[in-house]
Amino acid sequence: MHSHLLPGIDDGSPSPEVSLQLIRGMAELGYKKLITTPHVMWDIYRNTQESIQAAYNTLQSTLKSQGVPITIHAAAEYYLDEHFVQLLDSDTPLLTLKNNLVLIEFSFISSPFNLKEILFKLQIKGYQPVLAHPERYLYLSSSKGFYDELKDLGCIFQVNLLSLTPYYGKGVTELAHYLVKKNYVGLLGTDLHHQRHLEALQNAGSGLMTTVQRLLDTGGIMNHSL
Ligand SMILES: [Fe+2]
Repeated sequence: MHSHLLPGIDDGSPSPEVSLQLIRGMAELGYKKLITTPHVMWDIYRNTQESIQAAYNTLQSTLKSQGVPITIHAAAEYYLDEHFVQLLDSDTPLLTLKNNLVLIEFSFISSPFNLKEILFKLQIKGYQPVLAHPERYLYLSSSKGFYDELKDLGCIFQVNLLSLTPYYGKGVTELAHYLVKKNYVGLLGTDLHHQRHLEALQNAGSGLMTTVQRLLDTGGIMNHSL
């Protein structure tokens, strides 16, 4: 429910051919439905509903012509910047994972000073924030109380599957397991951008699946509802 498989519109797949290759790999892993979430980050990726729809149409026709049986949904991963606030202020409809669920991310260097204000605004407009990879914000490891605050503010936490492996480094793995232990994980995503991510998933082994199974057993994972 978090991937960058729409061709040519962000730092994910650059072309329909690569998308096809990645999606075939996902299907082999057992995925039946993929929610693609291209970055909307106004300094770098100026995606709109139109640009995302166009890339989605391109991908769909490629998948159809190749007979790949998989469901694709197009949403977005919104970076909390001034443009995002403008989208909210102008009542521009946001692309959702499903119903009112909006995937958001922010800076890997520091959290936005007006984070709470933006979250409040988002909720006032009727959306529910889903925070992408909270475990990758390493600066939060020294202020873990921030996770409690974000939870209390109504954020659903989406952890990357590869964060439960050594892929992103020790600090991220530790934070991911901290969130697992706290029962704070609501969604699991691949955040798949490229072949290296796919290979890491293919090679993750049984350790990852044990953790995933344990998470599923808690009943707190919402992926099945998307
Ligand atoms: Fe992402």
